[in-house]
Amino acid sequence: MSVTVIVFTLLSTIQLIYGSPPDIQDLNFTVSVDENTETLTTIETFSVSDPDEDSVSCNLAGGGTLFNLYSASATSYAINVLSNSAGFNYDSTPSYTLSVNCTDINGESTSSSIQVDINPDQTPTITHPPSAVKVSENTVALTSLYNLTVTDPEDDPMYCNLTNVNPSSNSFAMWIDTFSGNYYETIGVGKEKGVRQTIYLLGSQRLDYSTVPLYTLRFACSDSWGTSTSTLIVEITPNMYPVFTNLPGTVTFSASSTGVGTSIFNVTATDVDSSILTYSIEASNPSTSVFQINSATCAVTNTQHLKYVLNSVYYLTIKVTDGKDSTNGTLTIILTNVNTAPTIQNLDSSISVLETTASGSAIYTLVIVEPNPYDTVTTSYSVTPADKSSLFSFDPTTLKLSVNGTLDYETQSSFTIKFTVTDGKASSGPYTLTITIKDENEACFFDRTKYFTSTYEASSGLGSMDPGFIVSDHDNGDTYTLSIQTSASVFGNYFKIDSASGIITFAVNYDVDQGAYPSSGNLIVICTDTGNAMGEYTNLFCSHDI
Ligand SMILES: *[C@@H]1O[C@H](CO)[C@@H](O)[C@H](O)[C@H]1NC(C)=O
Ligand SMILES: *[C@@H]1O[C@H](CO)[C@@H](O)[C@H](O)[C@H]1NC(C)=O
Ligand SMILES: *[C@@H]1O[C@H](CO)[C@@H](O)[C@H](O)[C@H]1NC(C)=O
Ligand SMILES: *[C@@H]1O[C@H](CO)[C@@H](O)[C@H](O)[C@H]1NC(C)=O
Ligand SMILES: *[C@@H]1O[C@H](CO)[C@@H](O)[C@H](O)[C@H]1NC(C)=O
Ligand SMILES: *[C@@H]1O[C@H](CO)[C@@H](O)[C@H](O)[C@H]1NC(C)=O
Ligand SMILES: *[C@@H]1O[C@H](CO)[C@@H](O)[C@H](O)[C@H]1NC(C)=O
Repeated sequence: MSVTVIVFTLLSTIQLIYGSPPDIQDLNFTVSVDENTETLTTIETFSVSDPDEDSVSCNLAGGGTLFNLYSASATSYAINVLSNSAGFNYDSTPSYTLSVNCTDINGESTSSSIQVDINPDQTPTITHPPSAVKVSENTVALTSLYNLTVTDPEDDPMYCNLTNVNPSSNSFAMWIDTFSGNYYETIGVGKEKGVRQTIYLLGSQRLDYSTVPLYTLRFACSDSWGTSTSTLIVEITPNMYPVFTNLPGTVTFSASSTGVGTSIFNVTATDVDSSILTYSIEASNPSTSVFQINSATCAVTNTQHLKYVLNSVYYLTIKVTDGKDSTNGTLTIILTNVNTAPTIQNLDSSISVLETTASGSAIYTLVIVEPNPYDTVTTSYSVTPADKSSLFSFDPTTLKLSVNGTLDYETQSSFTIKFTVTDGKASSGPYTLTITIKDENEACFFDRTKYFTSTYEASSGLGSMDPGFIVSDHDNGDTYTLSIQTSASVFGNYFKIDSASGIITFAVNYDVDQGAYPSSGNLIVICTDTGNAMGEYTNLFCSHDI
């Protein structure tokens, strides 16, 4: 401590024999400043006084051009960051030692030093470091998958990016939530300014659990000083199958009294990750189209009165789908009082009928069984060929099929008649009756009943006469012979006939003049066909001239 002695003399001026140096107050030994402290920021103030009340000036050394000293008044100073355009750089110079030297006009000086520690600038802090998030493969596009808050201690401008998606995919993106780009979020006890970044899903169609069940998203948030990184695991969860809540199920209805459009069953199903389920009947055992399901309301109804159905149990395979996965369930429909269709017991069958069968003759009688005594059975039939259907008639009361007209083997040798029976609700058939027409040998016949011929008397074997017989036979390919019926009269014994040509000659030496033989008479000629059917008799009148 220097001692200042002030001597006053009467007539002399004040003389300073020993002056005192200035006194620096309030200068901290160390201050810390952020790396990105802005230009002209005051980092320290101090005051200076001089015991001798001399004027004092101070200067600053040791900080190059980074700092300067600003004199706010004669006694107070501020240390400012003069220019930080080059920037503090903690890594190269973590601290500066500045010296403040204050000198009074007597040249007495005091020096003090201050250490300026540079705070390293901090990269953004990702304050919600995510680990994993589960995302359904059904997630639609533009869904926010994860919100995270990023802060920067120095409140520097910053941005975040997805830097890597593994396996590679462009389904994900990251951007600032535009509704709350800047906001304050409570962290711990204080409040800190943060930027919320949201990881979005861009295209849901790319998410497929079976292909990629897990993605690793790496993202980085940077300010101008550096980058912080973090990782988000995105676990893809598979689509969940819809599940029936009331299938398998069984319902029972009376077939005879269940009208069309009855509510048979309401299927219910749930799906944890789909709201739209679609229902369908995939199969029915036995097969039927009587039951339908409304694809949206899942109501099962019947399209027909159930008196028409013939089975007492139906198993419906009902499918529910969420558009991606489906589940089957079985609805069992038990029916009581089920109708039974009438049946024809003795068809299909084949019969043979003689072509000569008389019109009106019954040729077949149906045996029809209808289990329900209250049902009325109706029979319908069709004949092939159709243009000859009038050759048969059917009596619905006696159930007899009869010939109705003349059958002819040569015209139509077989018929097919198809019968169908119905009780008005259910039918059976067609049942087939095949009718074969049997050929019968039909007699040959002449084109008229009387012929006339004449010749002169002559010896036996002569006197050839041709009456011009025209003989026909219905039987295809049948041939015939002609003969004279000698038993009819003695006259018949006088003539011979060529069995093929019908030429008649005398069988005796015929002489009318002797009176032994008549001059005219009737011969009876008959035709006999191959099947030994005796043909028509015809009268032949012969006259004999002299
Ligand atoms: C300097 O020290 C005083 C008291 O010792 C304190 O109040 C002040 O905040 C300090 N200044 C800086 C810049 O650290
Ligand atoms: C202060 O600065 C003056 C002038 O530059 C110098 O002579 C003196 O030695 C310095 N004082 C100290 C304590 O460094
Ligand atoms: C993210 O925040 C937004 C806005 O509050 C919200 O709509 C969204 O559901 C959030 N996302 C997640 C995954 O929580
Ligand atoms: C991050 O996003 C910013 C702003 O969109 C862009 O300028 C920058 O190139 C991106 N960086 C990376 C690593 O993708
Ligand atoms: C099915 O749902 C409809 C509408 O709610 C209802 O009227 C009907 O009785 C239900 N059917 C059955 C079989 O429960
Ligand atoms: C559902 O049933 C249908 C018809 O029987 C079948 O084709 C389909 O494979 C079944 N689906 C499932 C998921 O079992
Ligand atoms: C039976 O034959 C008569 C006479 O040809 C005809 O009018 C009638 O329609 C026939 N009956 C049937 C059932 O065809």
